[in-house]
Amino acid sequence: MNAPLAIPTLGPLRDARGRSKRKLRVSLTDRCNLQCLYCMPEHPKWLPREQILRRDELVRLVRLFVTELGVREIRLTGGEPLLRRDVVDIVAELHALRGLGLERIAMTSNAARLAPVAADLRRAGLDDINISIDSITPARFRELTNGDIAPVQAGIVAARAAGLTVKLNSVAIRGYNDDELLPLLRWAYTQDLPLRFIEFMPLDGRGFWNREKVIEQAEILAMARQAFTVTPLPRTAEPADYVLLDGRFRLGIIPTISNPFCSSCDRVRLSATGELYACLFSAAGRDLKTPLREGADDQALASAIRQHIWHKEAGYAERSGYVERPITMHRLGG
Ligand code: GTP
Ligand code: 5AD
Ligand code: SF4
Repeated sequence: MNAPLAIPTLGPLRDARGRSKRKLRVSLTDRCNLQCLYCMPEHPKWLPREQILRRDELVRLVRLFVTELGVREIRLTGGEPLLRRDVVDIVAELHALRGLGLERIAMTSNAARLAPVAADLRRAGLDDINISIDSITPARFRELTNGDIAPVQAGIVAARAAGLTVKLNSVAIRGYNDDELLPLLRWAYTQDLPLRFIEFMPLDGRGFWNREKVIEQAEILAMARQAFTVTPLPRTAEPADYVLLDGRFRLGIIPTISNPFCSSCDRVRLSATGELYACLFSAAGRDLKTPLREGADDQALASAIRQHIWHKEAGYAERSGYVERPITMHRLGG
């Protein structure tokens, strides 16, 4: 496709490769109450509070993305978003943007603290929640996350009872949870909880990623065929490829490494410190917090955002191997 020569000043946010952006992922905090080994560094240093966007700053930026830049879906991430004490208020304030074009408010969480707030989040306007669970065996769950599985299961139950749409995320890592994938899948199937296996990405905080540890989509599908009939479903704009198991259960696989989906990427990211990342694998973000705190008006901020996103890289599809990046997964929220 021939890209226009000038950076657009109106209309939906676009990059020079012809991809438009309708989803914004917003990290609420770099802190987390678990220590998933594919994400957290062994000795994380939490950012000072004054560097984290306050609620009014965050809502102002999201409003701008919705009203000026065509973003239609927000996903709140972390670290662990539920560690933000004002998380319910944040959802409520974002909910007020629906009349201005926002269509969906979602969250990705480890669910360990979800049970007590699930109903409040739903009432405040949260639509759906993706919950990370990498093993269904308590001892293995602890090895992978340094946490208990019981509150996570309670969080899943509470979220469904509150009317939230729930999907499960499981990062598949050879030598760590390969023997847990089928038990987890069988459990999710019996609970009728849609599950997505995620290929391990080279963004872990400990730098232990290597290509051998990636359990690829084809291998995961072969495993699923041992227990179920597998019918492929058409590809959508979601990162996951879906199949139907036994004609009724949706299993997704997010194939970033073996089959990158960058050519249809429709998302951008805002870190908890107010940096805009065009791609999960971007080498650098654009600081929006400084101009925001110095009093920049909406037009100046929108123009900075358009400029940064216009130059969005091709993505993982044009890279391979370990990705040196100044910000690890726990600070960008996936
Ligand atoms: P929905 O599709 O809206 O349900 O959410 P999601 O899958 O985009 O969000 P979630 O936070 O559950 O992410 C699941 C996995 O997909 C995580 O490992 C993310 O890092 C990964 N992911 C999300 N967006 C992208 C993306 O644009 N590119 C790549 N390569 N991975 C992504
Ligand atoms: N590779 C793939 N997925 C990851 N996540 C965190 N780190 C990685 C990684 N290195 C996932 C979490 C969560 C989502 C936000 O990102 O499991 O579901
Ligand atoms: Fe989008 Fe970057 Fe992910 Fe590719 S790697 S899908 S460009 S965020």
